[in-house]
Amino acid sequence: MSYLSGFRNYHSTEALAGVLPIGQNSPQRCAFGLYAEQISGSAFTAPQGHNLRSWMYRIRPSVAHRADGDLVEFVNWVSQSDESNTQIAFDPLRWNPLAAVEGHWVESVRTLTIAGSASSQIGMSASIATLYEQQQPVLQNHDAEMLVMPISSSISLRTEFGVLDIGVGSLGVIPRSAFVELSTENTTQIYLLENYGSPFELPNRGAIGANGLANERDFEYPTASFVEQQTATWVIEKREGRFREFTLEHSPFDVLGWHGNHAPYRYDLRRFNTLGSISYDHPDPSIFTVLTSPSQTAGVANIDVVVFGDRWLVAENTFRPPWYHRNVMAEFMGLIYGTYDAKPNGFLPGGASLHNAGSPHGPDYDAFSKASASELTPHKLSGTLAFMFETSAPQRITHFAANATERQKDYVGCWKDIQPASQIIKEFNVPDNKSRNNKSTDSHNG
Ligand code: FE2
Repeated sequence: MSYLSGFRNYHSTEALAGVLPIGQNSPQRCAFGLYAEQISGSAFTAPQGHNLRSWMYRIRPSVAHRADGDLVEFVNWVSQSDESNTQIAFDPLRWNPLAAVEGHWVESVRTLTIAGSASSQIGMSASIATLYEQQQPVLQNHDAEMLVMPISSSISLRTEFGVLDIGVGSLGVIPRSAFVELSTENTTQIYLLENYGSPFELPNRGAIGANGLANERDFEYPTASFVEQQTATWVIEKREGRFREFTLEHSPFDVLGWHGNHAPYRYDLRRFNTLGSISYDHPDPSIFTVLTSPSQTAGVANIDVVVFGDRWLVAENTFRPPWYHRNVMAEFMGLIYGTYDAKPNGFLPGGASLHNAGSPHGPDYDAFSKASASELTPHKLSGTLAFMFETSAPQRITHFAANATERQKDYVGCWKDIQPASQIIKEFNVPDNKSRNNKSTDSHNG
């Protein structure tokens, strides 16, 4: 399978020679009697650099790929953050890997956190789903651009634009309203991000320059391919968090050629050119941004997708793991494989955590103690791949997430052993944890 290279490049691809018109988009008669159809990813008047659209040449226009259907409920896929299905998250939260659940992948989606809502077209939802080998429904999601990352086995995305194979350690992005069919040869869980806001783009590199972080050429787009056997197809359509299902007498994957800059793509996160300090101090985690969905405010992301992969730690006289912090943004994290350096215990591949906007967090005490005492020789973090969905809106948790047996009820306990600064205790007679726990009224001392 070949791919087209380059983020938001203007790609052209044909499954059959002569499908694409030359010099225009919509001739009176398309080659082979095909139908021309434009799909846009931005308003028609969006400025250059943000204007997204593609032209497809297909057996039927997609208006023929609809049918009357029935509303269906998939209660654990949550796209509206109202009180009926979500609640406020005051404390840091963490979940063990979710158990696989029966059924097709759409009904297996379990949303953990949500910021904003599908109807507002701001924010995101973060979910985990189970994908089995059996035939899956085709999904058409009008609510969001979707980003998927398999956890234990590669998956394949068939779309109108062609097929993308997504290995463990890679991500795939599917445009809003595109038809997509997921498949796998081995059952796997997948992380699923719905981006309700602006489509993802690469972050501005600023002083970094023209190269680095996620490089444009490493984003790969599918070459045109279509389903030749036009068989009945089961479709689930999603709009404002509601679902409708119907059956088509044919396949929606009937595009023989397309051109444009708006299409699904994949990216191998191991190709991320990780930059960091070669002198001292830990940079802000924005240095690890792969993709960003900008908000209306310059410099503020609706969502940043951030990756923590293999890298060298060489900073001198520096506490090398992430520092303790309160972030004005909200942080959902997951782990594809390996160990995350700030949380060596309890944060597991396939698991997740939430540190909400302004919520204090940082290394657990074990990680702090070891990093404070370790010899600062160059050290390689290997075999690790963690990620973060960082949002400007606070993230609520679903009732499922709150009540799941996989939620670690004692997560905040990872900071319980934190000791007050020892020399200050001696110098100023500040009570240590032990005496403070025995005497609850002195919490405002010092
Ligand atoms: Fe953080």
